[in-house]
Amino acid sequence: MSIPRLRELTVDAPADREEAVVAAVYRMGVQGVEVRDASTANVPAGRVVVVAWLPPSPVASRAIRGLRRRLGADVRCTWRDVVITWEAEPAATPIGARFVVVAPRTDPALSDPARLPLVLDAHLAFGDGLHPTTVLCVEALERRYAPVGPASVLDVGTGTGILAIVAARLGATRVVAQDIDPLALWATRRHVADNAAGVDVVDTLPDARFDLVIANLYFAPLLALIPALAARVATGGELVVSGFNVEARDRVVTACVAVGLIVREAEERDGWGLLAAVPG
Ligand SMILES: C[S@@+](CC[C@H](N)C(=O)[O-])C[C@H]1O[C@@H](n2cnc3c(N)ncnc32)[C@H](O)[C@@H]1O
Repeated sequence: MSIPRLRELTVDAPADREEAVVAAVYRMGVQGVEVRDASTANVPAGRVVVVAWLPPSPVASRAIRGLRRRLGADVRCTWRDVVITWEAEPAATPIGARFVVVAPRTDPALSDPARLPLVLDAHLAFGDGLHPTTVLCVEALERRYAPVGPASVLDVGTGTGILAIVAARLGATRVVAQDIDPLALWATRRHVADNAAGVDVVDTLPDARFDLVIANLYFAPLLALIPALAARVATGGELVVSGFNVEARDRVVTACVAVGLIVREAEERDGWGLLAAVPG
């Protein structure tokens, strides 16, 4: 893997504008931000520093210039290009019955040869294989390919690309991975190449329909996207969603039923839930 360069955006703002700054940065499509307040070295009382990372691109530069204009004079907005040295631990994390997540520099002796390796350097996007929702989704995919499963799969909120790569490994003939976070898209493209997986990576939801739509999303975007996800399920196809606490499961069920889906399966793991539904 070549060493990636990223654009590091730093916004220094009055502490009472933290929420507005974080919201503005998130609107740029960034999913992860670091917020440093006055308890952090070098941040004076009454100020807050928000740091985010984007792939260097003309789009990122334009978005940063727009942010500068919108936030006003008492907010200092700077950026610089940084080199990220990959730091993923050389670990091997078994996931599901058939896979093991390995970091690029993992000694093969650490890995279980009976499992299929997923080479992921996961510290820039969500999806290192440890979170219960990712595990639930990988297990759901494995259940569907025993031995033959859905031909086409759309993975919404792909993060590192882990679910899309698993679907391709299990035999899906067409896999599309989508995310809105530029870093997730960038990480997924690298991982798709590193794993030689047949996956298309896109930043907007495709218009096509798929035999399986799988979406492990944060709760708010998940609820908001259920109609759009349902609209992409082919006749005879299925929607699998995760990313919600089990206490919130009824709200996800209600959202599914409201768009004509029939919920057929509910799984849980460590307080997190997964639902599978089919068109009614
Ligand atoms: C919980 S992570 C899941 C990552 C991976 N699929 C997994 O199972 O480990 C959620 C992902 O959804 C993405 N996301 C959030 N809102 C989204 C939206 N409205 N549309 C598409 N992706 C979104 C985030 O950028 C993040 O990568």
